Amino acid sequence: MKHPANSIEDSTCRFPRARLILVALSLGATGCHNLEQSRQIDNPAVAGKTIALQVCSNCHSVNGVSVSPTFPKLAGQPREYLVNQLTDFKAHARSDPNARRFMWGFTHLSETQIEQLAAYFSSQPPPVPRAPADHRLIDSGRTIFLLGIPDKGVPACSACHGQRGEGTGGFPRLAGQYADYVEKQLLVFRSAGLRPRGEVMKTISDNMSDRDIRAVAAFMEAFPAETEAAASPAVNH
Ligand code: HEC
Ligand code: HEC
Repeated sequence: MKHPANSIEDSTCRFPRARLILVALSLGATGCHNLEQSRQIDNPAVAGKTIALQVCSNCHSVNGVSVSPTFPKLAGQPREYLVNQLTDFKAHARSDPNARRFMWGFTHLSETQIEQLAAYFSSQPPPVPRAPADHRLIDSGRTIFLLGIPDKGVPACSACHGQRGEGTGGFPRLAGQYADYVEKQLLVFRSAGLRPRGEVMKTISDNMSDRDIRAVAAFMEAFPAETEAAASPAVNH
């Protein structure tokens, strides 16, 4: 099992060694920070899809289903959400530690390239959810996702992220995302200002306990395959 992300500082370059070498070679970089060296992203004439295949794929995979929880899955994310995030990284406005370390190099992307990159990754088939590991945790995560935590003023996540966590427009897909990444971002939202569009999520994650966050994150990674049948009785309203 992977370690859960205990804090947003848990942000080292968690590449398998071979992958790190690949990234270093293909980006001409000396480490995983130095993305500015890439000629591809310097050139506004290069199509977004080419950048996706040659650069982004090193961390997010060609099909947007990354192999390490450090790197969020992009496949099937709403196009608008991806444009928003790439715009925020480019402006250095999304500023949690891993955003700085891995995504701040992409200041050369043009608006057209950002549109094309977003179109490419959003059209990839969504990730296949993982088999759940801890059923009790997942059960409480499912309840939070579908019903919220009324006592704590936490709304149902499904109200904005979709009944199946599929996302729409500016609301990201959560279904099938790595639990570690979801958990880490919920902690990021607690620190105001690290994600410029995250105000609504700040209130929500402030009102959740660490266990609530772990539960809903575990549920998202296993969602929806394991839940499709089970979800409906729980939402009985
Ligand atoms: C060296 C590794 C690396 C490369 C190359 C890379 N990314 Fe990322 N990307 C990351 C990491 C790490 C994060 C998560 C940052 C965080 O935790 O806030 C991320 C986050 C993102 C997000 C936000 C996803 C979300 O769910 O909020 C988008 C969109 C994204 N990357 C797109 C791209 C695109 C497009 C490219 C190519 C131009 C690219 N990335 C290249 C490592 C990389
Ligand atoms: C009122 C609407 C709303 C509700 C309710 C809501 N969210 Fe969000 N959530 C958003 C928006 C908007 C964003 C995108 C913020 C941004 O662009 O940075 C987001 C982003 C996220 C992200 C970051 C995803 C990524 O790929 O980086 C996570 C994780 C998340 N929400 C989890 C939850 C969970 C868990 C709940 C329920 C406890 C929830 N949200 C309830 C609106 C909502």
